[in-house]
Amino acid sequence: MKQEFRKYRETGKRLTMLTAYDAGMAALLEQAGVDIILVGDSLGNVFQGADTTRVVTMEQMEYHIRAVRAGAPHTFIIGDMPYRTYETADEAVANARRLRTAGCDAVKLEGYIKGIVKAVTDAGIPVCAHIGLLPQTAETFTVRGKEEDEKIRFQAEAEELQREGAFMTVIECTSSALAKDISETLSVPTIGIGAGNACDGQVLVINDLLGMKEKKGAKFVRRYAELHSVITNAVRSYIGDVRSGNYPSEAESYR
Ligand code: KIV
Repeated sequence: MKQEFRKYRETGKRLTMLTAYDAGMAALLEQAGVDIILVGDSLGNVFQGADTTRVVTMEQMEYHIRAVRAGAPHTFIIGDMPYRTYETADEAVANARRLRTAGCDAVKLEGYIKGIVKAVTDAGIPVCAHIGLLPQTAETFTVRGKEEDEKIRFQAEAEELQREGAFMTVIECTSSALAKDISETLSVPTIGIGAGNACDGQVLVINDLLGMKEKKGAKFVRRYAELHSVITNAVRSYIGDVRSGNYPSEAESYR
């Protein structure tokens, strides 16, 4: 399966990736035909309500990966390795094995630490790299790679991550031009989020795509639905019906 992603590059077909954290949503994404589900540590933000992904633990990732695998038995699933769970090669391999056992096909880790991707891929676990804005360590959430030295560093890291065995790279929040340059240099597919249209595919947090929050998110988010109003209106109708005695009706009751 991992090898098939390289073919997308040859055919020009673009890859679709979306996050999911539970079985119900994973089942919907599989039914809709998404290529890859990411059990992102963004669950710290959207599921736990924290203002950082750093709070997410290994146990929580295992729990959510198991749930997503139950809902999407046939889809390629990538699980995020939580903050500070891949600082040494031994630790990275042990933790990647735990996530694989929970049910994901590959793991994703942020940034470049020499030797880590190599150790995990040598252990037989496919790794998706992640460069650009790295939410686990970011102090500010702004566009990355504007300065020449940072551009050069990202380009070098992307190549090094590929050399170490990464089968795919997520590029987050960079200029389109930089993401294009990096994509053209690499032979593995790139997946953009806030990185323009030249990547081989795109990823979004599912809650953002569905418009679960009233407030518009980052510039790169396209809202394909406005579920915050659909859901609040449905719940308001339910509250009204229960309070007025309109729910349940005879037809909704047992004899
Ligand atoms: O955790 C996550 O959802 C991610 C995506 C934003 C790429 O890493």
